[in-house]
Amino acid sequence: MSAVDLCGRIDAAASAVLARCGTPPSTAIVLGSGLGDFADSLGDAVTIPYGDIPHWPVSRVIGHAGKLVVATIHGRRVAVLSGRAHFYEGHDMATVVFATRVMARAGVRELILTNAAGGINTGFASGALMVMDDHLNLMGTNPLVGANDERLGPRFPDMSEVYSARLRRIADAAATSRGVAVTHGIYAGLHGPSYETPAEIRYLRAIGADAVGMSTVPEAIAARHMGVEVLGISCITNMAAGVLPQALVHSEVLETAQRVKGAFMALLEGIVERL
Ligand code: HPA
Repeated sequence: MSAVDLCGRIDAAASAVLARCGTPPSTAIVLGSGLGDFADSLGDAVTIPYGDIPHWPVSRVIGHAGKLVVATIHGRRVAVLSGRAHFYEGHDMATVVFATRVMARAGVRELILTNAAGGINTGFASGALMVMDDHLNLMGTNPLVGANDERLGPRFPDMSEVYSARLRRIADAAATSRGVAVTHGIYAGLHGPSYETPAEIRYLRAIGADAVGMSTVPEAIAARHMGVEVLGISCITNMAAGVLPQALVHSEVLETAQRVKGAFMALLEGIVERL
């Protein structure tokens, strides 16, 4: 896919979203596995199934609904994406970050990326919410590989502050005011789809990771490439492999997400209120 084609597809998708969504969104929220309920709680919403947006990838992972909801939350127009394309599904990186790029071209200035993650930091417990302070890109590639389209961003974008300090402070303030406990940490993004081995988790802990997951990192890089401010929030749905004497199952990820969704939704709402 040439850079010109890609930008054309992104703009076609952005135009289709803008044609249907009413007042354009200034903020976008991507909901991770099992966290999609937030989209169903919104009033004054326009729902656009992913299949209606040209070139938009459709995710088939259980726990991902596959729709874009644009709604007004505390006076702010927000695009909520339930379901994302994962690298482990076999999509190329351009496809994985397509939705991020469409949101940016549609005028979004702040992107809140949420995910389900395994807890590596032994001070965490399943159900904890972690504000991402930084990430380790261990996916083996980067969404910016290939010809750079200057219309999207620079060839060598700075990654000194992928996760905005301003938005992290807002997340902390929202957590305090809503009575939701949050922790902070470093997210390691891996290719997946197999969960990690206990040896891999010990290695990730040694290199500074607090949580591990299979998403978010490419989207955060693409968003920064385009000058969008990023906030990342992990729901620690399970302790990572080898931390507890039990096997990992995807159903636990969904069950934990379901258990904490009240706190998670209150946190998101509190953040949007303060933007
Ligand atoms: N590892 C990787 N990805 C995950 C995990 C995990 O333990 N839990 C939820 N997503």
